[in-house]
Amino acid sequence: MQQLAAALRQNGLIRFLEHFAGLFPTTHMKDMVVERMGPNRIIEVAGRKVVNFGSDSFLGLDQDPRVQDALRRGIRRWGTHNGASRAFSSVRANIEAEEKLAHWLGTEATLIYPSVTLANMGAIPGLVGKQDVLIVDEQAHNSIQEGAKIAKANGTRVFFFSHCNPQALQKVLHEAGNYRCAVVAIDGVYSMSGELPPLAELNRICLEHRAVLYVDDAHGTGVLGRQGRGTVLDALGNYDNTLVVGSLSKGFSCLGGFIGCTREFQMLLKMRSNTYIFGGPVAPCYLEAICTVCDILNSPEYELLAARLQRNVRQLKTGLSNLGLEVLGGRTPILSVLVGDEEDTLNAGNFLFEQGYYVQSVTFPAVPYHAGVLRIQVNANHLAESIAGLLDAVAKLTEIIRLPGPNTVRRQAA
Ligand SMILES: Cc1ncc(COP(=O)(O)O)c(C=O)c1O
Repeated sequence: MQQLAAALRQNGLIRFLEHFAGLFPTTHMKDMVVERMGPNRIIEVAGRKVVNFGSDSFLGLDQDPRVQDALRRGIRRWGTHNGASRAFSSVRANIEAEEKLAHWLGTEATLIYPSVTLANMGAIPGLVGKQDVLIVDEQAHNSIQEGAKIAKANGTRVFFFSHCNPQALQKVLHEAGNYRCAVVAIDGVYSMSGELPPLAELNRICLEHRAVLYVDDAHGTGVLGRQGRGTVLDALGNYDNTLVVGSLSKGFSCLGGFIGCTREFQMLLKMRSNTYIFGGPVAPCYLEAICTVCDILNSPEYELLAARLQRNVRQLKTGLSNLGLEVLGGRTPILSVLVGDEEDTLNAGNFLFEQGYYVQSVTFPAVPYHAGVLRIQVNANHLAESIAGLLDAVAKLTEIIRLPGPNTVRRQAA
């Protein structure tokens, strides 16, 4: 065991992270433990109450009594877990949740996995074989990259294209030469920057090259598009050439991931996704809660929830811009304030924490070196006074740490 631990300590990433944690023992706020959660996104950490701006529960449905009741009902109906791979059996709640999801999303069918990570790591290698090519946006989520590694190990030719660049995709597809099928895998929202890909352009190029577009829309699910159906339907008008992946753990505040597809692909993916076949399912109680969330998203109430979320995003975005900061994102409820230097980014997060606000300090390797950001996740159930308080704290922060002004990223790219 000691030899194995010593060998792991030689790993570049581990060396970097341990060095970092040693340099900034008090400001390195990773592995944080939340002791208690209160209303309006208050959390208690190490005896201190702070407002949590680090949750993907964008619509605040984790605190909704209807969703909580559905979970309790699910436990009464099914127990805590049915304990069987879905390759053998599914509970009725699974079929109901998949049908409700499909109805809401506007696809013929959906297939639920225990997480988006497991959807990507099961479906991506399952979709392609030795005669096919897989082409991945270079900044696609880690779980897509891991899925691509499995596909490559299975003999699929894997290529990458420059981030969100349709011309680069066209070139790669052209240079890939002969292939039986091609799958192009991208994110629907790049969660570190909040950037949306040019879906219509990318899909047009896919269609020209007989390629299918695979969109991981984890961060768009529940918060973008009509009734929160994500980025794809609004951008493309249909799902004819797309497999769309959504999250049940973020905007949905439940658990799991799903792929929206045709009934034919639902059946094919069941047979080809190893994570589906060889792993356990989402616990049935969450499937009941997913049904309840689908009902909320499909009802007129969704507009009210979305409006509350947008109002909060606007308040924060306007306030940060008025402070003269470089703010990335804002079309989704994730705003990233550029800080730059790694130490400054950690100190900035720590300062805000001391002021009563938790935001995520994101540094290399999650973002490029010296491009650290404060990642602020806005929820529908944040109070206006909490956002105003965070803005005051950021204003104080600018007196201590010099933060880059607007358009810094564009100037650096030029
Ligand atoms: C694009 C994308 N895909 C996948 C995931 C991981 O999702 P899960 O936690 O369901 O595995 C994330 C998480 O942030 C994500 O942003």
